[in-house]
Amino acid sequence: FEVDWDAGAVELGGFPDYMSKEIHEQPAALRATLKDRLALDGTVSLDLAGQGLDLRGVERIVIAACGTAYHAGLVGKSVIERLARVPVEVAVASEYRYSEPVGDGKTLVIAVSQSGETIDTLAAVEAARGFGGRVLAVTNTRGSLITREADAVLLTHAGPEVAVASTKAFTTQVAVMQMFALELARVRGTLPEERLLELGRSLRLVPEKVEETLAALEGEYAERLAEAVEVFEDARCALFLGRGEAFPIALEGSLKMKEISYVPAEGYPAGEMKHGPIALVDERCPVVAVLGEGVVREKTLSNVDQTSARGANVICVARSDDADAKRLSRVVLPVPEAGGLIAPIVDSVPLQLLAYGVATSRGLNVDKPRNLAKSVTVE
Ligand code: G6P
Repeated sequence: FEVDWDAGAVELGGFPDYMSKEIHEQPAALRATLKDRLALDGTVSLDLAGQGLDLRGVERIVIAACGTAYHAGLVGKSVIERLARVPVEVAVASEYRYSEPVGDGKTLVIAVSQSGETIDTLAAVEAARGFGGRVLAVTNTRGSLITREADAVLLTHAGPEVAVASTKAFTTQVAVMQMFALELARVRGTLPEERLLELGRSLRLVPEKVEETLAALEGEYAERLAEAVEVFEDARCALFLGRGEAFPIALEGSLKMKEISYVPAEGYPAGEMKHGPIALVDERCPVVAVLGEGVVREKTLSNVDQTSARGANVICVARSDDADAKRLSRVVLPVPEAGGLIAPIVDSVPLQLLAYGVATSRGLNVDKPRNLAKSVTVE
């Protein structure tokens, strides 16, 4: 059983399919999501208190979601813990609902759902209610079931998403999680005001950085993207690696690849790869590495080195001037210098284009992959 947007009502506007349209709508979707919530000076105002959700008493957070939204939750965990110092658990909603979850009135459950109608995510909300938890819904759909069950709602303003594989809903979910982390950090006083404003201002740049990334990968770096697609031509599987906040982005990249191109793809924390997945590596199992920024970059590079030494064709998502990445990889997909909170969103873009490129090169229907539904409203 599936519920779809009325695809006929959403125009393709010159794009060959909804997925490419939605990938290109990300700068606008991100702008709409940040608008009125993130001021020029970097101040975040989400008006949660105005909706009756007081963040001051929150001692623990559970993020419950399915699929792509779960990956946005993983980025959320990392940024909330780092900035606001509150322990966060991320739960697959279908598991959480039957896990006899532990919690109390000081537990905030954040349910993330593009459609706001996913049955397992709704059941996770009900489970949270069972122990007296507060509920915040992050959804793209005004008036959806989840908005009626939650104490407070943060809408992603991505606009209707028609393609089954989520793109703009994901990146706007990440932006909302990041703004939430900034707000919670301010309420808890975990970081100096000036630092929070600086991070807020970095997030304001994300729409234009996504624009730049798209323009470069379809312009001056189009040949590299084509080469990365070619690497997948006779791939029998693929490994997507990352660490820290780049790990959920690698997971999301592998999900996109599986969903629309049917290449078996594993997303793995780069440092854990040596405990199993490295056995898969050969010239027909490409390794896609998201390097990210800061300490994780160097560690990921050394993990990648171990795979290229075993004959892997490595595709790296790296900052444009990363000489180490160039040395170790067959193809570098460059993303602009970022800093602050920008990396996870910008790093997602090359992986969306890669999955899209592989699927279309195989002549597959990217908008309606086999066996998948846009919204899963039964168990
Ligand atoms: C389905 C879709 C995925 C989506 C997941 C959760 O599996 O195919 O793209 O991530 O449901 O949907 P939701 O609407 O709750 O975000």
